[in-house]
Amino acid sequence: MADKKEIVMSGIRPTGFLHLGNYFGAIRNYVKMQEDFECYFMVADWHSLTTHPDTKELQGNVQRVLAENIACGLDPDKVALYCQSHVHTTAELYLYLNMLAYKGELEKTVTFKDKVRQHPENVNAGLLTYPVLQTADIILHRAKYVPVGKDQEQHLEMARNFANRFNHRYGEVFPEPVAYNYNAELVKVPSLDGGGKMSKSENQMATLYLSDDDDMIRKKVMKAKTDNGPTEPNAAKPEYIENIFGLMKLVCAQDVIAKYENDYNSCNIRYGDLKKQLGEDMAKFIGPIRDKINTILPDKKYLQQVMEQGAEKANKSANETMKLVREAMGLKYY
Ligand code: TRP
Repeated sequence: MADKKEIVMSGIRPTGFLHLGNYFGAIRNYVKMQEDFECYFMVADWHSLTTHPDTKELQGNVQRVLAENIACGLDPDKVALYCQSHVHTTAELYLYLNMLAYKGELEKTVTFKDKVRQHPENVNAGLLTYPVLQTADIILHRAKYVPVGKDQEQHLEMARNFANRFNHRYGEVFPEPVAYNYNAELVKVPSLDGGGKMSKSENQMATLYLSDDDDMIRKKVMKAKTDNGPTEPNAAKPEYIENIFGLMKLVCAQDVIAKYENDYNSCNIRYGDLKKQLGEDMAKFIGPIRDKINTILPDKKYLQQVMEQGAEKANKSANETMKLVREAMGLKYY
């Protein structure tokens, strides 16, 4: 028998419009993992209801996030790419796990406290039990590895607690899920305005979206913060210049980077030229992804087929786990 591959699971919030930070921080890892693991990548549409009860834009957002991930190289034939709401046993497992999760620990969750602060008018029970639903997503496939960013570490710790509590009370069903990343350190993609990293909500002009057209990419890059250049040889780079070189490393050729490093160190740097080059290379990098998004997105039949195929794989794995869960819990009466 061939070795069974280890299981990877992650959730993607359907907030639409992925950017370069999402690409280098997360999606690129998914694409690599699909070769070596049995992967379940899920669009977390139920989770989005905890903060976005209005569902007008949900369908479009779900389609966009699918199209964007596929355009980046995720292959629906290699992974299970599916929607949370298409796997109903998620809700069943969530219910069981809710009996093992305590109000006190849920109230202490950092993401919960943040959301209470942001939306004091909508502190619903779904928000409180968000980490329980996330645990259900993960352990429903008995996944071991969960590729997520730093902000999700507390949720993963809770997932381990809930899984262990279940195992302890009803018998060993679940492995302990752990956060996982290919490259030991996550690539941080700096923002174009000199500080912080690229993010969805903040300054849109400082973030390169995978759906930006070439002119927009060039325009954003040209606006990146620079100065008059160093006044002495081999000077340390200020953070915003370091950031621009960081962006070059993602998309420019080695010799191009070396040239500008030399120019910088000999006080001959022309940031206008550098940004022009970076803008072109960014456009060359993002262009094919954007074009692919734009061909996939209008093809609703293809997207439906992807979702059906994903749901079938996810449900198969989920049903196997749920059989073990119900047996372990003694929920069978004949
Ligand atoms: N909470 C995750 C986020 O905000 C999304 C998510 C939902 C998830 N279910 C998951 C991540 C399961 C990993 C595993 O990004």
